Amino acid sequence: MNLPFAESYRIKMIEPLRKSTREERERWIKEAKYNLFNLKSDRIFIDLLTDSGTGAMSEKQWSELMLGDESYAGARSYYKMKEAIKNILGFEYFLPAHQGRAAENILYSTIIKEGDILPGNSHFDTTKGHIEFRKAVALDCTIDEAADTQLEIPFKGNIDANKLEEVLKKYPKEQIPAVVLTITNNTAGGQPVSMENIKEVYQLCQKFGVPLQFDAARLAENAYFIKIREKGYENKTIKEIVKEMFSYCDIMTMSAKKDAIVNMGGFVAFKDENLWKRCQMYCIINEGFLTYGGMSGRDMNALAQGLDEGTEFDHLETRINQVAYLGAKLDEYKVPYQRPAGGHAIFVDAKKMLPNVPKEEFVAQTLGIELYIEAGIRGVEIGALLADRDPITRENRFPSLELLRLAIPRRTYTNNHIDVVAAALKNVLDRNNTITRGYVIKSEFPIMRHFTIELEKAELGNQ
Ligand code: F0G
Repeated sequence: MNLPFAESYRIKMIEPLRKSTREERERWIKEAKYNLFNLKSDRIFIDLLTDSGTGAMSEKQWSELMLGDESYAGARSYYKMKEAIKNILGFEYFLPAHQGRAAENILYSTIIKEGDILPGNSHFDTTKGHIEFRKAVALDCTIDEAADTQLEIPFKGNIDANKLEEVLKKYPKEQIPAVVLTITNNTAGGQPVSMENIKEVYQLCQKFGVPLQFDAARLAENAYFIKIREKGYENKTIKEIVKEMFSYCDIMTMSAKKDAIVNMGGFVAFKDENLWKRCQMYCIINEGFLTYGGMSGRDMNALAQGLDEGTEFDHLETRINQVAYLGAKLDEYKVPYQRPAGGHAIFVDAKKMLPNVPKEEFVAQTLGIELYIEAGIRGVEIGALLADRDPITRENRFPSLELLRLAIPRRTYTNNHIDVVAAALKNVLDRNNTITRGYVIKSEFPIMRHFTIELEKAELGNQ
């Protein structure tokens, strides 16, 4: 008999979870103005809001915290982080930042001017926010196939090289400060980008004299998929694949809260010394001195250790198998999701789940609220609320996909929790004919509104 798969770790410390009743949850979500970000975490049983900063650190990472050097300048911890970035990713120059968006802020403050164009594969919302805030354009060149949730292809996160080339031909290189390749492609479903595509994009960038930036939050998961799915990589280690991936780019930003498995931290790294120097001022005024940026010494230590562990095969196999396990359960229950299962999350297809809710009433948000009421599970809307209004017309943007993302924190929940998530989704699916109305907006910010938005049930007549 083949032995079943089991996790590559055991549990040393636990955190109790609180269960609640449906009545309590109905009251709490109403109090939270139907915004899942407004819920107190004690009111959640299984929190799949994000895999960012929510993973469980290892015993080695906790030990590293004790070794942190908190010197204002020249800390040992900075050099430990520098060495990890050099050894694992191959970058000589970097600036620490408190998280991914802060790294974006440093870079984009330096390189973007009004009217610029930054093509890419489904820019993450903070990236898009930073670009649009500077009155530049985040142009999505993802392959069209990514929009078909039921299509099973191995590298659904890829850029369409033809679309990209059109853009590079159309605008002068002075107007394109960077092409942004997000690996894995979070917005399109945690879908990987192939090495072939990475290479092709890099060659195009070189041909047109435009730098290629990786948004590398989930670089290790991307490398895992390359190893498993792309010909020629099956016998390479994750670290070898990572090295090759990063040989095809000029700049990287990283939210280390994902694949470096820390609760807080990030950085921007450069191949070009000059650009590193040009960015330094924005690090100092926004984050802190060059050798700590926005981070404590202890956190830089944990990041260096986490980057090493995060790029090990056993860890990635455990992690991605857990996401695939949820996908397989959902298949069994006929719950539609973005296929194939992604690296960090399952993206449930809300339009297929709730076909009776009008798109103007925020279908994925409605599904998120129903799942919370069903079992105290928190996911996050990747749909019209997240898409914000068009910066020019101020009309709501309704993307073709309305997804509810269930992001799985690293090394945190067991497969029993995953079973509860799948069963709860099945229960919502079974009663979907009773869910015919969604929500309307009562108040919102002009940009990145989803974090603080306040909603009301549409059936109350507030159209
Ligand atoms: N890029 C990607 C691809 C991300 O997924 C995120 C964050 C960021 C940049 C920004 O990093 O949060 O450290 O400032 N994603 C989180 C998520 C928030 O839930 O997917 P940050």
